[in-house]
Amino acid sequence: MTLSAVLDRIDADLPDALERLRGFLSIPSISTDSDYAAECRRAAEWLTGELRGLGVAAEVRDTPGHPMVVGHTGGTGKSVLFYGHYDVQPVDPLELWDRDPFDPAVEDTPEGRVIRGRGAADDKGQLMTFIEAIRAWKAVHGELPGNVTFLFEGEEESGSPSLVPFLEENAEELRADVALICDTGLFDRDRPGIVTQLRGLLGEEVVIRGADKDLHSGSFGGLAANPVRALARIVARLHDETGRVMVPGFYDGVPDLTPELAAQWGGLGFDASTFLSGVGLSVPAGESDRGALEQLWSRPTCEINGIRGGYAGRGFKTVLPAEAAAKISFRLVGDQDPLVIRESFRAMVREMVPEDCRVEFHDHGAAPASRMDTSDPAFEAARRALSEEWPHEAAYIGAGGSIPIAGYFQKILGMDSMLIGFGRDDDRIHSPNEKYDVNSFHRGARSWARILDAIR
Ligand code: BES
Ligand code: ZN
Repeated sequence: MTLSAVLDRIDADLPDALERLRGFLSIPSISTDSDYAAECRRAAEWLTGELRGLGVAAEVRDTPGHPMVVGHTGGTGKSVLFYGHYDVQPVDPLELWDRDPFDPAVEDTPEGRVIRGRGAADDKGQLMTFIEAIRAWKAVHGELPGNVTFLFEGEEESGSPSLVPFLEENAEELRADVALICDTGLFDRDRPGIVTQLRGLLGEEVVIRGADKDLHSGSFGGLAANPVRALARIVARLHDETGRVMVPGFYDGVPDLTPELAAQWGGLGFDASTFLSGVGLSVPAGESDRGALEQLWSRPTCEINGIRGGYAGRGFKTVLPAEAAAKISFRLVGDQDPLVIRESFRAMVREMVPEDCRVEFHDHGAAPASRMDTSDPAFEAARRALSEEWPHEAAYIGAGGSIPIAGYFQKILGMDSMLIGFGRDDDRIHSPNEKYDVNSFHRGARSWARILDAIR
């Protein structure tokens, strides 16, 4: 009875909710770029204002990096911690955007209505689904749901450097019966998912230096070491011809897919060619002997994210470059140990660097994979609640991306997380023209209202 009133309230409030989201999206809270530190704080203050407006006791909490936002509804009941992040990825290449990334707007597209702007899907639009559900709850019940804590982070897109100390210092305040993390996607447009396993992440940057300056490739080429050539050899040896990663010991701790999970995922009817066709591809390029969802959700990978060195500008330049560099990330699963893999990778690279070159490594974060224990009845209750809202029944799924906080909640707070989100594969997160479907935003808020009603 009251649930349907809350859902009606969310429906009626959608235009205003979209306006609020537009305001939030117009704050350029890019966490990796220190030029935007004041904007990150402004986003934290904006959120604090939203929460206080609802009667939540909320504050901006300083950290050595960007601030956290913490809020409590007070009261009693099963305790729930809701997590999202207010920081966003950089926008470049800016010229590929069809609009100013921080002047968001609702657009009608052939696939439906979307709100477009940086952070629309990752993670501001998702984070707001929960706040909108709370707003409607309060309007109908006359009070906030009891015992809900909010934690909003501003460094998720830059490796969460302040997160672990913050969780350790505030463990008592933040610990809850269950954490709700809204930073993942739907399985497909009609079927929501609860993510039960996430891949971990290891980020490494390799810089190889040769001569003390760029050289003429005719005067010096052949005799002088070329760092770009050295780097290309190294990068080419990271995989074998079947797609296996060649870093020694890399597969230690990688579990085989259990028959139960294989059957569960097999039943989802995922088609690799259809999935790839959404981004202009058609042929799976990973480990040739593994299933598509297995490759995305439960196999580790090594990807070259970027490579630089020499002259890549307009025209042509016969240069023998002094320096070459690559940014490389590893997605990790099971019990793979990021620190052991880092050392093994570095040793392998050092071994291949020519005698006359020097190599330097930069650490870009390391977090292990995480798996959720779904035995808490809240998981099944949430799955049923989601199934009520969406056309197809909710599924337990995996996610290829990484959300290190899920692992820290387990390790530091002893708390399992329900990872539920409403993003779509075509949202272009981390890419130009990011969008969030109005349907995701609307049904997302309705989903949280149902879940809160079901688990408390
Ligand atoms: N929301 C994403 C993670 C994600 C993406 C989960 C797609 C499920 C599906 C998150 O904001 C993110 O991008 N995380 C980074 C890791 C971070 C440590 C930089 C990632 O996965 O690359
Ligand atoms: Zn995110």
